[in-house]
Amino acid sequence: MLKREEKSNDKKREKEIEKLLKKMTLDEKITMIHGASLFRSGAVERLEIPSIETSDGPMGVRAEFMDDRWIPAGNQDDMVSYMPSNSALASTWNTELAYEMGDILGAEARGRGKDVILAPGINIKRDPLCGRNFEYMSEDPCLTAAFAVPFIQGVQNNDVAACVKHFAANVQEKDRSMVNEMIDDRTLYEIYLPAFKAAVQEGGSYSIMGAYNKINGFHCCENKRLLDEILRQEWGFDGVVISDWGGVHKSKEAAECSMDLEMSIFPDFDEYKFANPLKKLIQNGEVSEETVNAKVRNLLRMMYRLKMIGPKKDSRKAGAYNTQAHRETILKTAQESMVLLKNEDHLLPLDVKKIKKLLVIGANAATLHSNGGGSAEIKALYEICPLAGIKMYVGGNVKVDYIPGYYVPGKPEMLENWQAASVDEEKGIEVGQAVRDEANENENHKKGYNEWIEKLKSQKTEIHEKNKELFAQALKAAKDADAVIFVGGLNHEFDIEGYDRPDMKLPYEQDLLIEALLEVRKDVILTFVGGSPVEMPWRNQAKAILWSYYAGMETGQAFANILFGDVNPSGKLAETFPSKYEDCAAAKNGQFGKWGEISLEEGAYFGYRHFDRYRIKPAFCFGHGLSYTEFDYSGFTLKVEKGKDIKLTFSVKNIGKRAGAETAQIYIAPIAAKENRPDKELKAFVKVELSAGKAKKVSLTLRQKDFSYFDEQLHKFIVDEGDYEILVGASCEDIRLRGIVTLN
Ligand code: BGC
Repeated sequence: MLKREEKSNDKKREKEIEKLLKKMTLDEKITMIHGASLFRSGAVERLEIPSIETSDGPMGVRAEFMDDRWIPAGNQDDMVSYMPSNSALASTWNTELAYEMGDILGAEARGRGKDVILAPGINIKRDPLCGRNFEYMSEDPCLTAAFAVPFIQGVQNNDVAACVKHFAANVQEKDRSMVNEMIDDRTLYEIYLPAFKAAVQEGGSYSIMGAYNKINGFHCCENKRLLDEILRQEWGFDGVVISDWGGVHKSKEAAECSMDLEMSIFPDFDEYKFANPLKKLIQNGEVSEETVNAKVRNLLRMMYRLKMIGPKKDSRKAGAYNTQAHRETILKTAQESMVLLKNEDHLLPLDVKKIKKLLVIGANAATLHSNGGGSAEIKALYEICPLAGIKMYVGGNVKVDYIPGYYVPGKPEMLENWQAASVDEEKGIEVGQAVRDEANENENHKKGYNEWIEKLKSQKTEIHEKNKELFAQALKAAKDADAVIFVGGLNHEFDIEGYDRPDMKLPYEQDLLIEALLEVRKDVILTFVGGSPVEMPWRNQAKAILWSYYAGMETGQAFANILFGDVNPSGKLAETFPSKYEDCAAAKNGQFGKWGEISLEEGAYFGYRHFDRYRIKPAFCFGHGLSYTEFDYSGFTLKVEKGKDIKLTFSVKNIGKRAGAETAQIYIAPIAAKENRPDKELKAFVKVELSAGKAKKVSLTLRQKDFSYFDEQLHKFIVDEGDYEILVGASCEDIRLRGIVTLN
């Protein structure tokens, strides 16, 4: 509920907006609703309305680009803090860090003079092969919403708007601007929309980005159902809808639904759908001027909120980038994000005092990731890779040898970035200078996509040849080191915008190397950096496995802190790591990574909901993550309060010898559900820090809505009477406490 004072301020603001609007000519209004450069909207100087400066992206503020070409401006002042990706952030299961990360991103964006930061990416990870999964948080809507809300609040604390993206269900990169996704309402409302709803209603996001894809026949940027009925009417959103870059296809359709600001990858700004073409439609009377007024109102409202205009203009925050405080929080987040998947015989942590000769193997030990991935790329102030982090930690008295172990071919040119790659080079147009070529846009995408797949295939022989020698070197050296740390995984040639991974395997023959290494010695510490799950066929032979998502500028330090035991790992998987891709829902129904149309026919049943339903054992389940200590759960009580809310209490005790943090996860499992429902669904979680031997009592409240499902006929969430099991787990498989409540 708005306070009385806020309400009256809102009224004043709306009056001011109307006054401004009355002064504006049609041309001025049109100027405001489309890009005037690749990342900036048009200004109306006569009325002191500034342009809106936007910037990517989710892992830090992207480098400056030229106004009309997809080429970095080449500045020396646009290096920034490189932040952990959203997949890393979500693995912390620490929502306070979500606020802090949002706050850093907002401060850095403002410090760089930005108004809107094109983040966070909160699409639900439907399939592990989606190329942009690294930018997203989780396969689960509850976890995603829990992180999105504080992240947005943190960003906006700096007088910068979050632009939560990509609304909605942007689940694959292949054919991303044309693919039509058929989704039923129940799946949409239960799985793909909740995090966006929370972003808007609880996070108060000032803006939202329409996705490229179509939903049920209509492009998201021109989708009346999505933008008008759901976003504006059902959720009451009064902020700005920004198109994904090039996501608007038709002037009239987009204008007549709640799309406010058209941005694109093309430099022909006057020909944008919301520029001259829309102006003509208005002049011909085919579209009313009121449709444009509504957009301008939304833009002005956001500008007021950001103190870009209006009475509070002089008190707008200035932000700051590259501060020491930012780096410290980034390090803490990186440390909390890393997931210890396996640790037999307490192989980890390593005791640095016992090591004289340390061998590090693997190209990812010495790879920098910040400058890749597409629009999430960053020009990092610095990035500490795992090898550097390890060496910085152990110092000069330990001899650290490094061997790449496997061969990574040079970066294929077409992966430079999706936006540049979408340019038709054959027409003799310089790369980076995109020119609108709609007829061929999709054909170009297909061509580029298929060339990429071919390139990956053709590299295989080269990799195989080069690996022979690299493998031999690694195996020989592994025999006489005191400890061996392997650092493999993925990179942004696979975790990348515009492409989905061809399979779920580790690239560059890493599996072969790992198998051979494990034969030479059982105690190889296997560590990985990557943005999405990989198959680990050798996992039963391995003793220690540590997984890190792209964890930002301090990745290497965090790695060393965990490997040598200064930090006790507390990350848990925010997505399922399947044993093999064939086990996944979309791999079974064939509805992923197709051109043209996909049907999300599995509904809610992907990720752990699917693995639960079909009793498939994944390699590492949702919510899994080990610690160097152990936790005991006890004393579960359940109480129905006020006939409605369900109050849970339980205790978590650290029964090991060192301090650590544990995330307890609360799942609801309907017993004898009348409707088709997942076996269990995450509804709450809590992370507790405990010193050795200490216990903490946790209290949580579940609400009626946590028990509900979406009824398509009634078009609302309803709760069935009956029994529900409440499960408290250390992961979705490791359930420690159970209780039953009856809802009447
Ligand atoms: C991406 C967006 C990004 C925009 C601007 C698009 O291609 O999908 O996530 O914010 O470009 O770079």
